[in-house]
Parts: sequence; C-alpha cells; structure tokens
Amino acid sequence: MSSNFLTLTNLRNLYLDFFVKKGHVIVPSASLVPENDPSTLFTSAGMQAMTPYFLGEKHPQGQKIANFQRCFRSEDIDRVGDNSHTTFFEMLGNWSFGDYFKKEQIEFFFEFLVDVLNLDPSHLYVSVFAGNKDLNIPRDEESAHLWQDLFQRKGVEAKIINNPRQGLQGGRIFFYDEEKNWWSRSGVPASMPVGELGGPDSEVFYDFAAIDDVQHFHQQSAFADQACHINCDCGRFLEIGNSVFMQYQRTQDGFKELAQKNIDFGGGLERLLTVVEGQSDVFQSSAFTGIIEKLVELSQKDYKEAQLQPAFRIIADHIRASVMLIADGVLPSNKEQGYLLRRLIRRSLRQAKHLNLEKEFLLDIVPEVIKLYQDLYPQLKAKEKHIDDVLKNEEQKFNRTLRRGLKEFNRLIVNKDQLTADLAFKLYESYGFPFELSIEEAKTRGIAIEEQIENKIAEANQQHAVLSRQSATEKFKGGLADHKDRTTAFHTATHLLQAALRRVLGDQVQQKGSNINVERLRFDFSYDQALSSEELAKIEQLLNQWLKNDLLVSSEILSKKEAIESGAIAFFADRYPDEVKVYTIGDPEDWVSKELCGGPHVEHTTQIARFGNLEIFKEKAVAEGVRRIYIRFKAI
Ligand code: SER
Repeated sequence: MSSNFLTLTNLRNLYLDFFVKKGHVIVPSASLVPENDPSTLFTSAGMQAMTPYFLGEKHPQGQKIANFQRCFRSEDIDRVGDNSHTTFFEMLGNWSFGDYFKKEQIEFFFEFLVDVLNLDPSHLYVSVFAGNKDLNIPRDEESAHLWQDLFQRKGVEAKIINNPRQGLQGGRIFFYDEEKNWWSRSGVPASMPVGELGGPDSEVFYDFAAIDDVQHFHQQSAFADQACHINCDCGRFLEIGNSVFMQYQRTQDGFKELAQKNIDFGGGLERLLTVVEGQSDVFQSSAFTGIIEKLVELSQKDYKEAQLQPAFRIIADHIRASVMLIADGVLPSNKEQGYLLRRLIRRSLRQAKHLNLEKEFLLDIVPEVIKLYQDLYPQLKAKEKHIDDVLKNEEQKFNRTLRRGLKEFNRLIVNKDQLTADLAFKLYESYGFPFELSIEEAKTRGIAIEEQIENKIAEANQQHAVLSRQSATEKFKGGLADHKDRTTAFHTATHLLQAALRRVLGDQVQQKGSNINVERLRFDFSYDQALSSEELAKIEQLLNQWLKNDLLVSSEILSKKEAIESGAIAFFADRYPDEVKVYTIGDPEDWVSKELCGGPHVEHTTQIARFGNLEIFKEKAVAEGVRRIYIRFKAI
C-alpha cells in the first residue's frame, strides 16, 4: 500500500477493519474524563473501562472487542519535546475477555504490521517478560518463541537475548524485567494495590535507523555513554504496540491467576502513522504537520532548527490536547483536570516566546486540530466556538498575569543585588509568574542569579506539594473501599436525579454531563431557567423517598433499538454500540428510572441511604440553556 494515501482516519479504519475480520466488535471511545472513577483524573489507557470484563463480567458485545480510545497522560507532560512523546494520543485497542490469548494476539499484531501495513519485519524488534521468581511469575518463553517463529517465517533472523541492557548483540527478541515488561495501572508489581489487575507484556519497537542516521539518535544524545538497546531513551527505537497478557490480580501476599486469561492490546495511532509514513518524528507525521505548518507560518521560524524543535512540539502537542480536553468538558481552573488544562495552555504560551510569537495565536491552531478529527469526533466542530472562547479567555488572562508579574518583578528586584529562589517562588505563588520567566528576565537584564536557584526552587516547590498532598491524604482518610462504595452510590443517584428532574420539570430535561467524586455528585442538564426553591425541594423529596422505598436496581442487555423502545433514556444515543446495558430502578413493570449505562450501580437504593440523605446544595447556570446541580450526602 502506498503510504501517501494513509491518514489518521484511514489507519484507524484499517486497524478496526482488520479486527472485525478477526471476529471482533468495535466499541466507541470513552471520554477523556472518566465518568465514574475518582481514582484517576483522565482516561490514560484503553483498559480503564474494561476491568470488570477481565474479571469475568459479560461484555454486552461479546468476548472480542476492538476500539480506539482517546487518552491523556499528564505524567508525560515533561517528556513532550522529543520525537515521540505526546500528552494526548489515540490508542488502538483489541481485547480478549477470556477468549484468545498469546498465540493469536502475537500473530494478529505481526500480521497487521507486516501484511496489512507492509512494514519491513527486519525493522521490528520485540521485548518479552523475563519473569520474577519471588512473585512466582514465570519467564515468558512462550511469547519469545512465538515471535521467533513469525520472524523466521518471513526470513528474518530472530536471536533471543537475555541481557538486553548490554546492547543489541545482533538480537531481535529481548527479555526485560518488570520495569519494562509488566503492565498495570500502578506500574511494577511492587506498587500495585491489592485487587489491581496486571500481567506480563510484550512490546514491539520500530527501528528509526532504517530511515535516519543512527549517530544522530544515539551518539549525539544524552545516552551516548550507555549501550543502545531497544528501550533506550535516545529516540532510535519507537514503541508502537503493547500486548498485555492480563492474567493476574494482586493479593495481600503476592499474585493470583484470574479465572480467565485476557488480552489488552494498546497501540499508539500517531506513532504507527509516523512509521508507516516513513518519518522518524511523530511531529512530522500527518497527525501533526498541519499544526506545525501553521506555527511555522505564524512565527516565520524553521521547524528544522534543532533548538526550536522542542518549542514547536510542545505547543503543537499541548494545544491539540487542550482542544480535546475542552471538547470533553474540561475548563481551566486551579484544581484537578482544570489545572492540567491550564498548565498545558500556559506552557504553550511560554514556549511561544521562543518562537517570538508575540500576539495571540491559539485560535489560529484550533481549526487545524479540528480538521484532523472532525470525521470521528463531530462534537469538535459543534463546540468550536466554545473551544475558541475558553482558549482566548485563558490566553488573555495569562498575558495579563505575565504583565502583572513583570511589574511585580520590577518592583521587588529594585534594590536587590540578585534574584533569589525565595523571590522567584513568591512571584510564582502570589502572581502566578512562572519561575522560568523570573530567571529569564534576570538573565536578559544582567541581574545576578542565586547559585543553584533551580534546585532551591524545586525544593520549595516540593515542600509545597508535600503539604498539599498531606492535606489531601487527610481528606481522604475515609479509606478507599468506602470511596468506591460512595462513588457507586452517587452513580445510581445520578439516574434517580435525572428521573426526579424529569418528573418535576418535564421530559425536556436531558443529561448534558456528570461528574462524581467522593464528596459530591455534579449533574448538568438542559433547562433554560433557574429552579425555584419549591422545585428544588420537590426534587430532593422525591430522591429521598426513593431511597426509603428500597427500590431494586436491575440490569439487562438489550439491542439499542429494544432499549430505546422500552422507554430507556440514553445520554448520547448515537454513541452507544448496537447492544447495550440497561439499568432499571424500581419495579421492572412500573419503573422510576430506566437508562442505558455501563454501571456500576448499587443493588438496592437503601445502599445509597447508608451514607445519608441526598441533599441539593447548589444549583446554577453553566451555559445558555444548561443548568448544573450539586448533590451531597447529609447525615440523617
Ligand atoms: N494497557 C496497556 C497500555 O496502556 C495496553 O493497552 O499500554
């Protein structure tokens, strides 16, 4: 196939079509903001929504699923700037819930790479898990030999190597320890909480040396004094897919095997596109060139200039991610998801200074992002104005912060003979003026800078973070199990709330969004006027009556058509697959609520009441025609 015809959309479709042919059913992407999972701010892997099915719950679509999942990894924010890391990306996934396992998975992925995408197998390298005796988890000889056989069938030599960090050694398949070849949401086995799922994995890497100069990657990198191996950070090898053999659960004293063996495959769409397009830089793939070209046009700078590349890449990544986050309902703020969004925008604006981009420019980038994704995420186009408004507002606000910070900088620095860490920290804390700018300002004006200022600022910052972490820990000392139960209770309460709103205000009420944490439930719905105190009281009374009545919560799997015909309401009807799970609250013949939903839910409404009565503590407008209600538990 000619790479010229591949776009993000085509490649995504090729992958999904391939897995449909292999008997998989496609399910849609979940939001970047997980609906009912207070343990994490963002969807950072496709597997987040899949845990119940690894444990044996029946997926409405069967045991073989394929999907693409938009993901955001805030932990990678500081790594953006090299040739491969991004905060936002789309993850291609295929899943086996107790169906196929290693053999089929390894064959599927190899076939997709080599026979569908026409990648040269001699440019591919593989890692497998070396095992851990203490944990009683065996070495993955099976995968190593499966890979070896596949390579050899294509006439490619495939030597297996046991000490991978000592260099390539003419090998193709490498045994790494759990730092590299174990996957769980919390990382290595030792950091996994009891109950968490994980397993050994096998990653595939593409060798950029096939298209670019090896020296440029390794000898000229910060890793030049170490041997280059497939997990080296020099940028020569790019991980393009990870097959996790999801078969273990953490217990008090080790691991137990799950009742079924599962596959969790995740592959970075933009990375695959890069490789297929013959590039050695994700930002030179067509997933990014539109954005980069726009930045080149606005700044009149050259992307090829090595010292400017990080700025181009950071802005491109961060604005793309910001657009996707805003489309999924995140607004800039000082906490949780909103804080990360604000950080992305502000970092982009700071990096823009390196490109001499002085005027407002964020809105010029938005159409380039929308162009890439509009066929798949039509909500982007529909929300373009909102996205523009949010970005513009934040851009202006930050520019004001910078001006004010600069003024304070001038005021505070007068009569001082140097910029100290204390001063930089104070400017940051009180005026939001970034440390880096204080240092840059001092440098350009020839003001002396306290020795080791960066380390000292980092220390002050760390101390600050420890203090806020401490208070967060105290806040959550209720215990994790309790959190989970509260969250589930709020989730069922969300359905009750929607039912109560519709009874009191009419059927035009429709859910627009929801968000749950351990302390409260937030619910957005369409309605064009403020609620009166009588209406609020009536809604609250209905909710608490339903808790008292101990209604049954039951679920069934129906076709989407049957579900809608039965009167079940759907939050985003067109986003659901053909077979759906429907939750009914109350007598199945005379129900209070019936909704399409993935769960989890309580089984009886008194399980909600054990945390207290439900209380509406705030109601306000969030946008034209959209109201927001907050509910919490009130001790009875
Ligand atoms: N869960 C694995 C990952 O995120 C594979 O999907 O990398």
